[in-house]
Amino acid sequence: MLRHHIPTAAYATFTDPQAAHQYVREQGAPIVVKADGLAAGKGVVVAQTEDEAHAAIDSMLGDGSLGSAGARVVIEACLEGEEASFIVMCDGTHVLPMASSQDHKRQLDGDKGPNTGGMGAYSPAPIVSEVLHQRIMDEVIWPTIKGMASDGIEYTGFLYAGVMIGDGPDATRPIKVLEFNCRMGDPETQPIMMRIRNDFSEVVEHAIAGTLDQAQIDWDPRTALGVVMASHNYPGTPRTGDAITNIPGASADCVTFHAGTHLQEGVLQTSGGRVLCVTALGDTPAAARDIAYATLEQIRFDGSQYRKDIGWRALKPA
Ligand code: GLY
Repeated sequence: MLRHHIPTAAYATFTDPQAAHQYVREQGAPIVVKADGLAAGKGVVVAQTEDEAHAAIDSMLGDGSLGSAGARVVIEACLEGEEASFIVMCDGTHVLPMASSQDHKRQLDGDKGPNTGGMGAYSPAPIVSEVLHQRIMDEVIWPTIKGMASDGIEYTGFLYAGVMIGDGPDATRPIKVLEFNCRMGDPETQPIMMRIRNDFSEVVEHAIAGTLDQAQIDWDPRTALGVVMASHNYPGTPRTGDAITNIPGASADCVTFHAGTHLQEGVLQTSGGRVLCVTALGDTPAAARDIAYATLEQIRFDGSQYRKDIGWRALKPA
């Protein structure tokens, strides 16, 4: 990102714990400690105090709690603002943006508790105005695709940019990249897919053929909102094997997507941390939320947990 002038947080990387501790003492808190490998959304500690940052460094570099994923850490400035997910399809030359979305990464209501892979999402994200959409394309997506091309990487597939949008007028407010993923997001995908009204396989065929410039997505203007039901102890090591009952059948405006489930001798059971994502369409964010929660509250499995405030940013008074 630095080489290609893509805006992101100031950072430094460390394999030596003493150097990492010294950097934290110099920078102060709040500060973010990230495992430099894939850790299922659990390799990020947003440390509010220096002590929390030191403990995260000791856990990742000292104790090896995340294995090889934590053998190197990135320590970054803590960005303030509102996070949004911006996902595009790319065929190497052309880019087709998906609708904007917003995840809820913390485990508990009020954005409290540890980070997870995502406890719920909705689309569109009201913060991504037309002006910000264009700025994210110009300041993040195109420099990334072109930067990779100049590095000899012809990028095809989904590119997910997690961005932090700071305060201010849309024309000038800061946009900084928090993360990239080479895939769609989970659980952002579920609300995004609910809003696609045309045949998505045709869009994918265009991406494969290199003709994404000829593809269009017919977006449902309604809001789609998905709530994740997670298993006991998630985001720690989840308990599995709990029987799941009472999943209502899918309807035109509500679908329960399966993630951590499997069939054991004909019985549906939990098999992972994030088990289901109940996703509904509504004319307003509040309507989508009401349908999703009314459906979710019928579903049963021991130890289930979910956030009760998914969509709060879209629901707050302007
Ligand atoms: N929901 C965040 C991600 O998929 O990485």
